Amino acid sequence: MQQNTPEVYTGMKKHLDHIVFKTISDICSEDNLEAYVIGGFVRDLFLKRPSKDIDVVVIGSGIELAEKVAIKLGNLRLNVFKNFGTAMLRYRDLEVEFVGARKESYQRDSRKPIVENGTLEDDQNRRDFTINALALSLKKENFGDLLDPFGGMADLETQTIRTPMDPDVTFSDDPLRMMRAIRFATQLGFKIEEKTFEGIINNKDRIEIVSGERIADELNKIVLAAKPSIGFKLLDKTGLLNIIFPELQEMKGVDKVNGRAHKDNFYHTLEVLDRIVPNTDNLWLRWSAILHDIAKPRTKKFEKGQGWTFHNHNFIGEKMIPGIFRRMKLPMNEKLKFVQKMVGLHMRPIVLSQEIVTDSAVRRLLFEAGDDIDDLMTLCEADITSKNEDKVKRYMRNFKLVRQKLKEIEEKDRVRNFQPPISGELIIETFKLDPCKAIGDIKTAIKDAILDGKIPNEYEPAFEYMLKLGKEMGLTLNNNE
Ligand code: CTP
Repeated sequence: MQQNTPEVYTGMKKHLDHIVFKTISDICSEDNLEAYVIGGFVRDLFLKRPSKDIDVVVIGSGIELAEKVAIKLGNLRLNVFKNFGTAMLRYRDLEVEFVGARKESYQRDSRKPIVENGTLEDDQNRRDFTINALALSLKKENFGDLLDPFGGMADLETQTIRTPMDPDVTFSDDPLRMMRAIRFATQLGFKIEEKTFEGIINNKDRIEIVSGERIADELNKIVLAAKPSIGFKLLDKTGLLNIIFPELQEMKGVDKVNGRAHKDNFYHTLEVLDRIVPNTDNLWLRWSAILHDIAKPRTKKFEKGQGWTFHNHNFIGEKMIPGIFRRMKLPMNEKLKFVQKMVGLHMRPIVLSQEIVTDSAVRRLLFEAGDDIDDLMTLCEADITSKNEDKVKRYMRNFKLVRQKLKEIEEKDRVRNFQPPISGELIIETFKLDPCKAIGDIKTAIKDAILDGKIPNEYEPAFEYMLKLGKEMGLTLNNNE
């Protein structure tokens, strides 16, 4: 759709009742300039989503206008990005970015457009969605008028994501917008209009010119939304998931042998992800929910007498994660380690809750999970997605017991951040040893004795236990001691 005369809504002044807008408006009058607030800030204003990022577009030089505004607001510091023709200032909690109105044209192999100066119309034409092309005038004569060239207000009303131009052009120009469409649909709970949706399907392969980091940014915003499954289902339906995250796509589907089917692990995963949302804002715990069963397709077997099994899917999953993180440009640091740990341990509390909960099993879990034990329990509780309500209730009751037991044992034995009471050096000194395997064996035996509750987690009993072990192993004591 080419831009016609824009729809104009008057009386929006009340939204611009801020010294920053007034200052820009005054300078526009003095210098006879046209400037507008545009994009996400305007969209969020009408959605009542608080936003602190303001984009101002001026017909002329964004940097020059920004310099004048910065002076007038009290000689504020200005960050100028000459290459992009933009400038940014902070005023109290607001971040205001200034840019000259521009016209963009794209080349096939790059997301970087060729940029020329343009009119407000040109600037609105180059934007991704109708709801992101709304502009509020800052000129004195029509201060607060909303210029809506593509029916963005109507789309806000009907909760629709739609490209202003032919979607094939918008998405082919900048394929990141396909991820943005799905991200906005997820964050706002909007639907993607049919032609726009088809445009994503047609252009999905173009995602390959977008950097992994930008894709990861959008994906993380989807994961942090209130109902992330919306985004993953859309990624699946458009075919993007298969390109950016094939391991998750592979989980889709159900196999049947002798009339016995396993559950669809793709939909199960999305359910776990949605279920964990109310209990955590931790992006990496949410990623653990996405990845907890990632090795199920690879470990799946139908075994006589047992039905479907997924042996060791937790450990194999743990091993797959670094490769997935590297490819998807997710951080290769302690966040990765945390997700690996969660995935590796995610079966343990469930097993615990099914069996009689022994102190020793709880101690071992505490020892392995350390300070991440609460996160692990949160993941495991979200993992109970059975349709059978009695079963869910039973599991939840058992988890409560496990949590209580975890608390009791931690208070009693302090194994959460277990530090062995006997060091390797002490073993060497006591038995006059050169470095050898026996040292490690004794350390492990002491740790096991503590975790199994044979001896308390204290120095004296552990020392006695070491002497006993040494004797059994035929070691002699260092008499210089
Ligand atoms: N925009 C675009 N195409 C992109 C990125 C941005 O057309 N690939 C335009 C849109 O008009 C958008 C504006 O630039 O509203 C500002 O972009 P940005 O700050 O990235 O996003 P917002 O829409 O403000 O949303 P959010 O802050 O949630 O990312």
